[in-house]
Amino acid sequence: MIEGVIFDLDGVLVTTDDCHYEAWKRMADEEGMPFDREVNRRLRGVSRMESLDIILENAGRVYSGEERTALAKRKNAYYVDMIHGLGKDAILSGALETLEKLRRLGIKLAIGSSSKNAPAILDRLGLAGYFDTVADGNQIHRSKPDPDVFLLAANKLGLQPANCLVVEDADAGVEAAVRAGMRVLAVGAAKGNPRATVQAESLGTFDLSAYLSGENRA
Ligand code: BG6
Ligand code: MG
Repeated sequence: MIEGVIFDLDGVLVTTDDCHYEAWKRMADEEGMPFDREVNRRLRGVSRMESLDIILENAGRVYSGEERTALAKRKNAYYVDMIHGLGKDAILSGALETLEKLRRLGIKLAIGSSSKNAPAILDRLGLAGYFDTVADGNQIHRSKPDPDVFLLAANKLGLQPANCLVVEDADAGVEAAVRAGMRVLAVGAAKGNPRATVQAESLGTFDLSAYLSGENRA
């Protein structure tokens, strides 16, 4: 029985996955570091500092702790600037309809995001009210693929992991959900991940409420 759905935010509900890429790309270009969309795949779902470490693998020299902090801070300033400019068109196709239908079904809803900016994005886009709880990068020590953020979300919902389904666009997030003992719908960049329970292009091409009704009847 699925009683709760835990949504990743960036790239599942909103287009901010692209803002993360653009902000890192600007920082990397300024520093003359190689960085492209292929490397960016590995950044999906992982924390800010871990993302930076992945980019620095190709940087050609070792960066001190102070330099790393400054680079991450600069990227975040670019990112925060971008999210200040976001409007409702940043909400991905099918997202609102899915949230509304699941609420009508009485399914509990949570956010499980590695991002420290998740609460600001939810407020800015008017999404906060859909969720019973938010677990985000401010509340965890280990980001995806560790299961912590999803276990925290389930705990805050008062549900067992086995009664939760995660929606993810990151391979690291699919892995985190599996390690948490949850079922997982892989969308976007994670579509095709063999560890996922079910796959779809996006929430716009998949009727999650019909799927859950079917699963819960079975
Ligand atoms: C995740 C993104 O949701 O949040 C990652 O997929 C990002 O790309 C991570 O690095 C951390 O985000 P923030 O906003 O705390 O830097
Ligand atoms: Mg994501």
